[in-house]
Amino acid sequence: MFIPVSQPYISPLMKKLSMEAVDSGWISSLGEFQKRFSSSLESFYSPYLALTCSSGTTALHLALEALGIGDGDSVIVPDISFVATVNAVLYSNASPIIVPVDQLNGTIDLDLLPRFITEQVKAVVVTHLYGISCDMQKLSEICQSHGIFLVEDCAESFGSFSDPTCEQLLGTFGHASCFSFYGNKTVTTGEGGAVLFRDQSHFDRASLLRDHGMSPSQRYFHLMKGYNYRMTNIQAALGFAQLEEFSVIKEHRLLLQQHYLNYSSDSSFSISPSESHILPWLINISTSDHINDPIYYNSLSLYLKSHGIDSRPLFRPFHTFDYLSTYSLDPSIYHSSFTFCNSAISLPTYIGLTEDNIKYICHTLLGFTHV
Ligand SMILES: Cc1ncc(COP(=O)(O)O)c(C=O)c1O
Repeated sequence: MFIPVSQPYISPLMKKLSMEAVDSGWISSLGEFQKRFSSSLESFYSPYLALTCSSGTTALHLALEALGIGDGDSVIVPDISFVATVNAVLYSNASPIIVPVDQLNGTIDLDLLPRFITEQVKAVVVTHLYGISCDMQKLSEICQSHGIFLVEDCAESFGSFSDPTCEQLLGTFGHASCFSFYGNKTVTTGEGGAVLFRDQSHFDRASLLRDHGMSPSQRYFHLMKGYNYRMTNIQAALGFAQLEEFSVIKEHRLLLQQHYLNYSSDSSFSISPSESHILPWLINISTSDHINDPIYYNSLSLYLKSHGIDSRPLFRPFHTFDYLSTYSLDPSIYHSSFTFCNSAISLPTYIGLTEDNIKYICHTLLGFTHV
């Protein structure tokens, strides 16, 4: 037996609807499921307008260009996220400004953020890392007071709320929110993504950019340098089916979180995210006995593997990547990134992981001794 970190949830409804898309002959980007998936996303994230696209990465690129960000502009990003967050800024010909993160949860450090806002800064891209957000009210106020755009990278936070009151979903604070539907994500279409906007004009511009910049009223008249960032109708059928079954997905993922919390309660390991307003994408474990100790977590990972359990390290800080060195500032300001990313690993988290599997994982963890 080998327990992977992730496995996609593929239900009979997903198979049925994707075959319907195939049988209809509408296998490229046009088709009924496109409309149905977009309108499901819109009901979920009301009052936002939803545009499907080929990935979370292209969603971020479309968001930035649709907001008018380009040459000479700067965009703030956190030091820790998946690399697509910062690459999208480069694709838009803007310059990223890499801001330190909170050492406990890896989200952008809001106390330091205002110091990085210069005249050139046009937007902040905030990642809700592993489904966890910074104080979104505070961040919205900072962006508003400086007249800059707020873009939410929701690739890891589908269905998560900003706080325990569950009043506002993550993805409904910004001018744009970007989602990934990659195979390991909470909602998946295989590959795929979506970008959501509050403003009709931003949505219209993103639609043009996604569809080769072609005029919606005159075929083969191109109004700007666009892209082909479309999702297929088959992918949209998968996504639509997943949203139809979202209550099942949500219930299962919250149950996984509960089992991890229960079965690790007698150990020195802590589980994150541990609060039920966060719908876990990946469950991370850490121990306060080993902070900023990559050797410990690496050997924990190898030990788990030898017992048939896969795990994965956390994302690495952007400021350590050579190709981004021109954008990072004095390395000493980023020490909190290492405290965060060298103090945990991600454990198996997917629908289909059983209570017995989690019991076994937590029991195995208890047997680990670091030498
Ligand atoms: C935070 C974050 N942003 C962006 C992406 C990019 O999404 P995709 O892989 O669909 O391009 C991911 C996905 O891995 C992610 O985790």
